[in-house]
Amino acid sequence: MTEAARTPYDPADETAIGPSHGRDLFSKFDPLIQEREALLATGVRDPFGLVMEKVLSPTRAIVNGKETILLGTYNYMGMTFDPDVVAAGKQALDEFGSGTTGSRVLNGTYQGHRECEEALKEFYGTRYAMVFSTGYQANLGLMSTIAGKEDYIILDADSHASIYDGCALGTAQIVRFRHNSVEDLDKRLGRLPKEGGRLVVLEGVYSMLGDIAPLKEMVEVAKRHGAMIVVDEAHGMGFFGENGRGVFEEAGVADDVDFVVGTFSKSVGTVGGFIVSNHPKFEVLRLVCRPYVFTASLPPSVVATAATSIRKLMHAGEKRAHLWENSRKLHKGLRDLGFNIATPEAQSAIIAILLPDQDTTVRMWQGLLEQGVYVNMARPPATPAGMYLLRCSLCADHTSEEVEQILGMFATAGRATGCIA
Ligand SMILES: Cc1ncc(COP(=O)(O)O)c(C=O)c1O
Repeated sequence: MTEAARTPYDPADETAIGPSHGRDLFSKFDPLIQEREALLATGVRDPFGLVMEKVLSPTRAIVNGKETILLGTYNYMGMTFDPDVVAAGKQALDEFGSGTTGSRVLNGTYQGHRECEEALKEFYGTRYAMVFSTGYQANLGLMSTIAGKEDYIILDADSHASIYDGCALGTAQIVRFRHNSVEDLDKRLGRLPKEGGRLVVLEGVYSMLGDIAPLKEMVEVAKRHGAMIVVDEAHGMGFFGENGRGVFEEAGVADDVDFVVGTFSKSVGTVGGFIVSNHPKFEVLRLVCRPYVFTASLPPSVVATAATSIRKLMHAGEKRAHLWENSRKLHKGLRDLGFNIATPEAQSAIIAILLPDQDTTVRMWQGLLEQGVYVNMARPPATPAGMYLLRCSLCADHTSEEVEQILGMFATAGRATGCIA
């Protein structure tokens, strides 16, 4: 590498911008760069550049040298520090090494990957389970592989980026319906030509607003139109339904759902993704699904922690109940303070607060952080157009006293920023 190539980018240095002919490939990002610079020039911290200096527990970390309550992780069931989960990871690290250095279809399937798939089959009561390296890749794989160019993927307009990206990677024709509208789903399915397969893609919980899908009605409509159905339970696994399988279990539609996609990066407390299914031809996906074949498999320590966590989540009734208590308490407290919340009641472990603009949202976010609570800030394109949110996600390990404390911090920051009276 030459000295010049090592020089960090400096906007004042013309030579750093690149060759003098041809369009600057970065020019399309200029409005974003300017918007960001203008925001940071007001003296606020960068909400997308935070560093956790030390993590003390599922609900506490040191941020900017200060002990901070974590209210913006997806550690819903608090499994990241579970002693059995941590011990399983350490043992696998000792016995199998730090990584597989290979794809699932070559040298990258260890005993632990199979055991993790067994744990998933037991958790979901399905015949098949396939573990991917992330939930993102599970969606990428399913959407791009299962539907071809003669087929249709019908998806909710607010679907996660991984679902959209999976559609973009594949060749199926894409039809969007209005967020959570059973009527619009019905109408759009009704307009499709008779030929061609149909895959309806739903999410149990929509993570930006924390609202849940009317799965019973949607599944009925999709079945009536002869579609296969996939439900992404990334934010529902662990605490919805009698066995914690997700919103589809609570809605009583398990027998009509063809695929459930999920992640280990939320309630399970590590990283990884999966699809479970009872479809008799499901296993063929291992051979044809590019985001499964052309990437390295998860490290042995990760699948060991995932399998242990999944098995423990099968018996986590008390934790589930406490998580719901926390969620309802926070929702009610914030509403009573006068915040504008995205859902009329707590529908999941995500409570999203709607704010008028980016500036107010960042000031509120910073006000909370300075008092000692971290929440997630979300803005377009992650949110629907023009929507600025502070998203709180609760953990089963938050105590009731912590929720009270958090409400006090919201009251102070809300008044200081003029968000509430
Ligand atoms: C609905 C949904 N699906 C899939 C994913 C991807 O999961 P992972 O973090 O495992 O890539 C996410 C993650 O944010 C998600 O919210």
